[in-house]
Amino acid sequence: MQKHDLVFMKHFAQLIAALAVLTVILIIGAWVIYDRLGLHDENPVRVAETNARIAPVAGVFAGETGRSAMLAAQEAARAAAAARVAFEGALDGALIYDRVCAACHLTGAGGAPAPTAAAWAPRKAKGLETLVANAINGFRGDAGLMPAKGGRPDLTDEQVRVTVEYMLDKYK
Ligand code: HEC
Repeated sequence: MQKHDLVFMKHFAQLIAALAVLTVILIIGAWVIYDRLGLHDENPVRVAETNARIAPVAGVFAGETGRSAMLAAQEAARAAAAARVAFEGALDGALIYDRVCAACHLTGAGGAPAPTAAAWAPRKAKGLETLVANAINGFRGDAGLMPAKGGRPDLTDEQVRVTVEYMLDKYK
């Protein structure tokens, strides 16, 4: 063998050895990752056995049409529930004021605070939270009776709150 053949053989052997070491490192690395992820816990036979044990004893199969009918009924019930909230739940103080509160508050009917800053100044002094609570729960003062939610129980608390905020902003 010539000298450069020997050199080649030596380098080639070193390369093979390095690749072998790399292979071992990769195997160990893969094993560690596999172990960390705990993938080997999922024995498919065990999983099938467990599923069989915890399966419900009986089920109702309504068929595909039954299922779509059920979903349609759920959807209709949701729509009906939304419709029971006044103004489709709109958090629009101006709209609610005009449609509900203005009936008394625009004219001062029954002792409602008139739509002026002067009439609202002493109310404001009570603080927003008190006014909101009184508007939600109703309030009997010296001037008259403020019905709960202005007589519209289908208003949400949040809707009454934005309306009171709107009124306070309007009459400042
Ligand atoms: C049926 C008439 C009527 C309607 C409708 C009405 N109110 Fe009133 N409201 C009153 C009267 C009367 C008072 C004054 C009560 C008092 O101080 O004696 C009042 C007072 C208030 C006060 C002041 C409460 C306080 O603690 O001083 C707020 C806030 C208020 N109303 C908000 C509203 C809102 C918001 C609406 C609409 C969702 C509304 N009101 C609808 C009659 C009405």
